[in-house]
Amino acid sequence: TELQSAQRKAAWADVARRIAHEIKNPLTPIQLSAERLKRKYLKQIDTDPETFATCTDTIVRQVEDIRRMVNEFSDFARMPNPVLAREDLRGLVSAALVLQRTAFPTIIFTAELPEDPVIVQCDGGQIGRALTNLLKNAVEAIEARKGNDLPPGRITTHIVRTEQHTTAHITDNGKGLPVENRDRLTEPYMTTRVKGTGLGLAIVKKIMEDHGGALVLEDAAGEGARASLVFAQGNGRAGA
Ligand SMILES: Nc1ncnc2c1ncn2[C@@H]1O[C@H](COP(=O)(O)OP(=O)(O)O)[C@@H](O)[C@H]1O
Ligand SMILES: [Mg+2]
Repeated sequence: TELQSAQRKAAWADVARRIAHEIKNPLTPIQLSAERLKRKYLKQIDTDPETFATCTDTIVRQVEDIRRMVNEFSDFARMPNPVLAREDLRGLVSAALVLQRTAFPTIIFTAELPEDPVIVQCDGGQIGRALTNLLKNAVEAIEARKGNDLPPGRITTHIVRTEQHTTAHITDNGKGLPVENRDRLTEPYMTTRVKGTGLGLAIVKKIMEDHGGALVLEDAAGEGARASLVFAQGNGRAGA
């Protein structure tokens, strides 16, 4: 029945959350220990200090990868129902942009946002996470470009309102969406990246479905990709 299925889902999400937590706990001590070994003993090593440094760096890097994967996994397993409030979509976009701008100073981030508030009824935390996932994908698509003399990486965000919809578009000049399996990109574990988890778009899709909206992926005009969060209009109107 529906109740049993909901209970099973809750139980599975709970187990996933606990496992993620248990895996994450030892990561910080592992990382700090490796960094400490390097800091403290590198000077004293006479034979082959390069290997020592490479090994400690590898530990630190791999631990970081595990942490990222576990975070995505627990995000995906958690997925609580959205807690809706009236939010200005411009603020959510700007906040997500600030984080990525700081992390990737070589990429040009721009935003075309309306002058007046764009109110949507949504869970600000979840929509913020969705925007962050899309921005990260855009960054990764830019970093994955091949060739010399590439134009600077650009990520443009704009908000468009029509009678029916409020949409946040994120457009990049990255390597573009893959041709194969294009319609399966939002499935969990679907990734073309070596270090991908394939959970990012699955999370975004789930979040948008929970908001009665949609995630749309398209080729951008020219090169790159465009990902859009589409909200039904009126979802934030008075009385809604
Ligand atoms: N902006 C983008 N440009 C090009 N390809 C993209 C973009 N966003 C997503 N993709 C494709 O969709 C796949 C799935 O994305 P995602 O679910 O976020 O998983 P991951 O980022 O871990 O690979 C990516 O591996 C990539 O092939
Ligand atoms: Mg991703």
